[in-house]
Amino acid sequence: MKFFKKGDKNIEETKPAAKPHPELQVISGNEISGKRPQQQTPQQQTPQQQVPQQNITLPNIKYKIAVASGKGGVGKSTVATNLAISLAKNGAAVGLMDADAYGPSIPTMMGIQEKPVTSPERKLIPLVRHDIKLMSIGFMVPEQQAMIWRGPMLHSAIRQFLTDVEWGDLDYLIIDLPPGTGDVALTLTQAIPLTGTVIVTTPQDVALADVRRGVAMFERLGVPILGIIENMSYFLCPHCNEKTEIFSADGGKNTSERFGVAFLGQIPLDAEVCTAGDLGVPIVAGNPESPQSSAFGTVAVELEKVVIQSGEEDELTIL
Ligand SMILES: Nc1ncnc2c1ncn2[C@@H]1O[C@H](COP(=O)(O)OP(=O)(O)OP(=O)(O)O)[C@@H](O)[C@H]1O
Ligand SMILES: [Mg+2]
Repeated sequence: MKFFKKGDKNIEETKPAAKPHPELQVISGNEISGKRPQQQTPQQQTPQQQVPQQNITLPNIKYKIAVASGKGGVGKSTVATNLAISLAKNGAAVGLMDADAYGPSIPTMMGIQEKPVTSPERKLIPLVRHDIKLMSIGFMVPEQQAMIWRGPMLHSAIRQFLTDVEWGDLDYLIIDLPPGTGDVALTLTQAIPLTGTVIVTTPQDVALADVRRGVAMFERLGVPILGIIENMSYFLCPHCNEKTEIFSADGGKNTSERFGVAFLGQIPLDAEVCTAGDLGVPIVAGNPESPQSSAFGTVAVELEKVVIQSGEEDELTIL
């Protein structure tokens, strides 16, 4: 696979911001202003205005991959950050977009306190950590501030993160979605042609029922499911290396077989994975030799295989 060369991709640790992006400012104490739409009553809105269909192509980004789950708290953001760093370690140019406008986790997980600066062309310059270009609503808004979104504003903010951010040349843009089958997933799939989505789940039946809903939604939207990642699959004893399956065994694997989608791998339940995220240095960066990091590495390799294969299939279809 031909990756953009690391030297070419303008990835540098960024400096604290001089001023926040003018188009994304907090208004009324708790809302983010996109390009504010004119006030209209619901009767005045045409269906096209409610769901604009202008696709954004992002030709400089090879693969755009959403990380989704049917259920909250299964580890999407943890998987998205560690997966992004693993892909970068394999030589890819990677961006990570936090599309969870309600509860952005990427600033904490990547240990970022500063705000992004704006380029002379009025584009947001992503912050960089562990060789990953990052953008999150959480960079603009204080952590403790509740965010209340009007539908059109959310739509506008997500689109701005795609069009008004200087992502540069990337192999992968990993997009961390909020849980469930809501507005953000819909806006995103209508804004850009996604390469596909990966669905994160835990092995229990209650989580797997939500996976089925997630798969059904993305299928309806015509977004390929690149695979399922099973998180918190087992506990690996740090003393004797014994593997204990705390929840049901192989739930994610069995579900992926049932849906005929790839199974990308299992991530152990481990205190270090959790504390590393809380401390702002994901385990793959902080303890790359650990078995947990190697599990993320395996998932990254599997994902690369699937996207390359899906690209080859697309080329065959065009021929
Ligand atoms: N493999 C793991 N081992 C231990 N803790 C984990 C693991 N994966 C995630 N966690 C922890 O579980 C919590 C939830 O993880 P995370 O925020 O990544 O989930 P999420 O699916 O993104 O949540 P949300 O739906 O709220 O966005 C975090 O405290 C995280 O550190
Ligand atoms: Mg999350």
